[in-house]
Amino acid sequence: MKQELKKIQEEFKKQLKEVADFAGLSDLEQKFFSRKNGEFTSIMKGLKELTDDVKKEMGQMANDVKKDLEGLFEDKRLQIQQKEMADIVERESIDVTQPLLPKKAKGHLHPITQAQDKMEEIASNMGFVIEDGPELESDYYVFGALNFPDDHPARESMDTFYISDNTDWCMRAHVSNMQVRLMRKYNEDGTKAVRAAYPGKVFRNEALDATHEHTFHQFEAFVVDRNINIGNLVAVIKELLRGLYGREVDVRLRPGYFPFVEPGFEMDMKCLFCRGEGCRVCKHLGWVEMLGCGLMHPNVLREGGYDPQEWSGLAFGMGLTRLAMMRYSIEDIRHFMSGDLRFLQQF
Ligand code: DAH
Repeated sequence: MKQELKKIQEEFKKQLKEVADFAGLSDLEQKFFSRKNGEFTSIMKGLKELTDDVKKEMGQMANDVKKDLEGLFEDKRLQIQQKEMADIVERESIDVTQPLLPKKAKGHLHPITQAQDKMEEIASNMGFVIEDGPELESDYYVFGALNFPDDHPARESMDTFYISDNTDWCMRAHVSNMQVRLMRKYNEDGTKAVRAAYPGKVFRNEALDATHEHTFHQFEAFVVDRNINIGNLVAVIKELLRGLYGREVDVRLRPGYFPFVEPGFEMDMKCLFCRGEGCRVCKHLGWVEMLGCGLMHPNVLREGGYDPQEWSGLAFGMGLTRLAMMRYSIEDIRHFMSGDLRFLQQF
């Protein structure tokens, strides 16, 4: 038995030397000390069969051997642990001279969406509900409900895309399709004032150039209440523009014709770049054309369910795309829909 112990001790030491990692260590432990069939364990089990004297002596010896082996085992474990730690430090050490890795490209909102968000924020602070509406729309909401006579040339001036010949369905040529829709939505019984703003995409069959696109964005709003007048119209628009540009703006009205307002106007804003002196942005006019506006036509109010004797309204619509072009000095409208990242990444 003594010899067996010695042999196991030698064998263990020999094999321990060859162990290089935790897995090897665990195999070795299993092989010698497993409770079920470890080589050392079997010897300890054999002790039971010895006479008391011998058992004592052998027991003592077996314990010494066990302690010896355990000590060696623990030394080896520490050795392996240190080596692995050193490897990790080696692998993960920070090279302070390494150049910065390029940042992952992150997307951001399109400049038109940014302009739209800004306008929505200002308008909702002014008490307007913000609404969205259909882009594929019936001729009725785009024109008929807005007091466009059937054969009126204004219909043609909008260069509307119809879905097919002889159909009432078109891609809306302006967001004014929302006027009668929203009056009806918020004024079920003809007694409620409404303030609504509705940005959106519009479509026209334009000859494309630097200032004309087939698809662009508008922002429109209306107020229906009692005793609405032109002073209210100007004040509301000025307030909105002030929010947009962060300073007081000067505006002027020129007569303009839109079938759904009476009177109707075109509004210009004094050029913010040159303060009216004349520059490239305002084409040396000192003023920039901003939007169409007016007091709602009685026929439109009636179509929306209001009695025009009692109720009145103001409305104005502007090109969001044009606002974004002015804000960022973009010279060609076609950039917006180009999907060209070299353009988009600038905003
Ligand atoms: N819808 C008109 C257009 O696209 C713009 C417009 C003019 C809107 C006058 C209005 C308005 O609300 O009152 O040209």
